[in-house]
Amino acid sequence: MADSFSLNDALAGSGNPNPQGWPAPWGNQPAGAGGYPGASYPGAYPGQAPPGPYPGQGPPGGYPGQAPPGAYPGPTASGYPGPTAPGAYPGPGVYPPPGQPSAPGAYPAAGPYGIPSGPLNVPYDLPFSGGVMPRMLITVLGTVKPNANRLALDFKTGSDVAFHFNPRFNEENRRVIVCNSKLNNNWGKEERQTVFPFESGKPFKIQVLVEADHFKVAVNDAHLLQYNHRVKNLREISKLGISGDINLTSASHTMI
Ligand code: GAL
Repeated sequence: MADSFSLNDALAGSGNPNPQGWPAPWGNQPAGAGGYPGASYPGAYPGQAPPGPYPGQGPPGGYPGQAPPGAYPGPTASGYPGPTAPGAYPGPGVYPPPGQPSAPGAYPAAGPYGIPSGPLNVPYDLPFSGGVMPRMLITVLGTVKPNANRLALDFKTGSDVAFHFNPRFNEENRRVIVCNSKLNNNWGKEERQTVFPFESGKPFKIQVLVEADHFKVAVNDAHLLQYNHRVKNLREISKLGISGDINLTSASHTMI
């Protein structure tokens, strides 16, 4: 991975949020075009699972871009349409075993294949031993429940919420994503995003990439927003709480 992949490639153009979704490199680019060395599927990061059945990306009802639980180990598991060659993904042979996609620190270099192992109980805590750091990519896969009201990702320190990412499905009949931090038990100034890629009853993928100055969030392979760090000491951010009206399939992190 290190040979052929540059962070600048991955993050080119990251200075400005693009509510309409970046054409590249954070998803939505044509397969194989302008993509990453070693990845043949659209929107991929090195070491990342191929996209699942997000809107327009595959049959409903599952994550066909990923081998079913139990089909591991091995990148040659049948029914795996993503890569064109077994060696296409970095770190072959390091798949987290089903049922442990989020074991803290257990697979520090593994990362690929956010393996559906679910359902995971919600609320769910994904620990980060040693905190978070730039180039850490957190991937959450799940399905929004019918008639959902809310969901939330909370990047937490011991007592504070460094980054609260809170899609609300019905705030006075509007859909909005509220981002904020809770410091010393007080919520700060909200940052609101009206681009709303979640749908009740539908599967989703949330990717949060930690960068030096901000968290960068993509949903279903399209860039959504970024959130400047208010908690500056990223190493204090010791877990991600996942809550709300979802069925949670997997939560994992890797370094890119
Ligand atoms: C509050 C809400 C919290 C959190 C916060 C964000 O109104 O109760 O759960 O979402 O807004 O600013």
